[in-house]
Amino acid sequence: MALINDHYQKLQAGYLFPEIGRRVGAYCQANPDAAVIRLGIGDVTLPLVPAVVAALHEAVDEMASEKSFRGYGPDNGYDFLTEQIREHDYRRRGVAIELDEIFVSDGSKQDSGNIQEIFGADCTLSVTDPSYPVYVDTNVMAGRSGEANERGYYGGIVYLPANEDNGFTPGPPEQGVDIAYLCSPNNPTGAVASRQNLQQWVDWARENDAVIVFDAAYDAFIQDDALPRSIFEIEGARECAIEMRSFSKRAGFTGVRCAYTVIPKSVTGSNATGERVALHGLWARRHSTKFNAVPYIVQRAAAACYSPEGAAQTAEQVGYYMENARCIREGLGAAGFTVFAGEHAPYVWLKTPRGLTSWQCFDELLEKAHVVGTPGSGFGPSGEGYFRISAFNSRENVDEAIERIGKAFGG
Ligand code: MLT
Repeated sequence: MALINDHYQKLQAGYLFPEIGRRVGAYCQANPDAAVIRLGIGDVTLPLVPAVVAALHEAVDEMASEKSFRGYGPDNGYDFLTEQIREHDYRRRGVAIELDEIFVSDGSKQDSGNIQEIFGADCTLSVTDPSYPVYVDTNVMAGRSGEANERGYYGGIVYLPANEDNGFTPGPPEQGVDIAYLCSPNNPTGAVASRQNLQQWVDWARENDAVIVFDAAYDAFIQDDALPRSIFEIEGARECAIEMRSFSKRAGFTGVRCAYTVIPKSVTGSNATGERVALHGLWARRHSTKFNAVPYIVQRAAAACYSPEGAAQTAEQVGYYMENARCIREGLGAAGFTVFAGEHAPYVWLKTPRGLTSWQCFDELLEKAHVVGTPGSGFGPSGEGYFRISAFNSRENVDEAIERIGKAFGG
């Protein structure tokens, strides 16, 4: 008899975004004339920039010739990409990373979901609440939680409320946990962690022998150069942190797929006999066993994001989305909503009007304004009563959505 992994049965409902897709699909089927504007899932809408397209074409031509054809790529990624990453994303910001500490992958969603595999089954974890659902769901699947209670909290997981009182950037937990998930700029709240906040986390992790899993998938949206883009800009982080970054949002790669994870060799955990073991070696083993490298063509495309033209063109795209975020923040603020963030992230976080629950707000927004957003409660219990609006869409659609929401809810 094939017994199932019954931890899966602890999961509540389906994964958030397919669930939203299902509800929107049903609504559109019942209301075929509704011109629905999607500001729900954070999926890019602008096409790939010319420098990336040129690199893709060139790489396809290389693959078409016997002389330059490539088969399996190196496990960690081609040097032509990891060297660019090390130089532009780290060295230029004063951070020293070794080339083989970078693992190129096909997405931060996968990496942030898979990283838990290298930790013991009994490890405890904390998440800021709300948070990207992948962190909690993958640990539930792996058996690191009890059942969820009626409010949606899984037993055994430490939830750190991110709220107005702490500027949506909570500090470390009081109780000891082994793995702490952090995301800055934050999905879903759009809040960005200060250097002081991250230093507090790193100091705590070192004192408590914990590992920080730092998701920086939205780092390119930070507008203030003084804010940390990488946890490794923080003193001591090389001893206790793992970082994920992605080309998805910064260069429109959600359908192309390329990201990377950095694991310094100095980050260790304990084995059962108390010996220290480098996490780097464990992840390298996992990566080479379960993954066969990002396609050559895609890695060439990612490397093109660092050329002067590629950097300028992708920065312009980020600027376009950030202008959308500004319009949403100001437009909905003027319509009477209480809005947060959207200054260093492509997400605006708002309080639902009239005390609606997050899903009630989702339904009303869809029915009255034909606009799709994301219910805050889908990201964790402390997201209840909040709502996320994504800035990934055309300016025309964003302007139209703001106007419709203002008319439907304004006051
Ligand atoms: C989101 O909308 O939260 C993101 O698009 C999800 C993701 O990047 O996987």
